[in-house]
Amino acid sequence: MSNKLTNIKIPKYNLNYEIQNNKNIIDASLDKNIKLAYSCKSGICGTCKAKVVSGEINKNNKVNHILNDSEKENNIVLLCQSNGLSREVILELLSPLPKNPKLNKVRELVSEILSIKYINKSIIELSISVPKRFNYDKKNNNYIKILIPGLENNDKYPIINSLEQENKYNGVINILLNINKNAKANSYFKKSLIQGETLSIKGPYDENNTILPNNKPLLFIVEDNYIIHSLNMIKVLISHNYSFPIMLICNFENKTDIILLDEMHRLTFINKGFSYKISLTNKDNINNIDRFLYGRSINIISKIFPDLSSHYIVINGKNKFLNENYNKVIQLGAIKNNIKKIL
Ligand code: FES
Repeated sequence: MSNKLTNIKIPKYNLNYEIQNNKNIIDASLDKNIKLAYSCKSGICGTCKAKVVSGEINKNNKVNHILNDSEKENNIVLLCQSNGLSREVILELLSPLPKNPKLNKVRELVSEILSIKYINKSIIELSISVPKRFNYDKKNNNYIKILIPGLENNDKYPIINSLEQENKYNGVINILLNINKNAKANSYFKKSLIQGETLSIKGPYDENNTILPNNKPLLFIVEDNYIIHSLNMIKVLISHNYSFPIMLICNFENKTDIILLDEMHRLTFINKGFSYKISLTNKDNINNIDRFLYGRSINIISKIFPDLSSHYIVINGKNKFLNENYNKVIQLGAIKNNIKKIL
């Protein structure tokens, strides 16, 4: 019987990691941030050849023709055309590991603005073309800078793509910019972003400092303007198969301030363990048919979670928000070591 997971061991490089068997070994290793040598990923170039020292793999025999008879007899396979099958597979790589296995190298590039969408008064969504060599890592939290002459305080903006779009990444990325963060940037963006124009970007920066232990239900308590960052973290967790429930609670003042509602809704379909609650602080906005709650998140948490002692909690917002919610979750039994405050 085949296993869903295979432990890949590559003794020469001291590598020992587990992969999902529904993907070829190159892609499944990339999911674990391990870059083995590859080029075409179509069974043509042979860059990904490896010897199976022990264990079983599932080969795509139709694309094996570039292997000669002696290679086949010697258990040489194409990793881009092979999935794990047995519980453990030991490999010897025929090409060395790429020298710089880190996927993201910060670069400065020129890019074209394909579309601009003003989501609300503080957020715009920018779709830009980037050369393939931009090489952004879809699994991690990636950020870019938009280079603005004379603007010293240049924020990094998260690259947000829906998970479906990520799979079709073809040199176009969507970023959401919080243009209220910085007054100078705000006026620049409003005046200068024109479809078809080119702009300079620097990145991607990998700020994947969000590794959370995969052993507890997770609760995100998020201030409105930090929703992009939190949702980005949640997408990373989902793409890494976080196996416990994840709930996000965020409050906005008015319905019209809510952003990324579609994205949150879509994530509930992609991962059944994800759910979200939105509360509105302006009661005039709520009517009977709404699925929104009324009140500040701090008052809502205790109604949903009377006891938080078995949760991991991420609080994402400004200092005041962090402190208030920190005290609240402590009152509800949260363990100090299981609370992460993100400013
Ligand atoms: S990467 Fe080219 S054959 Fe596998």
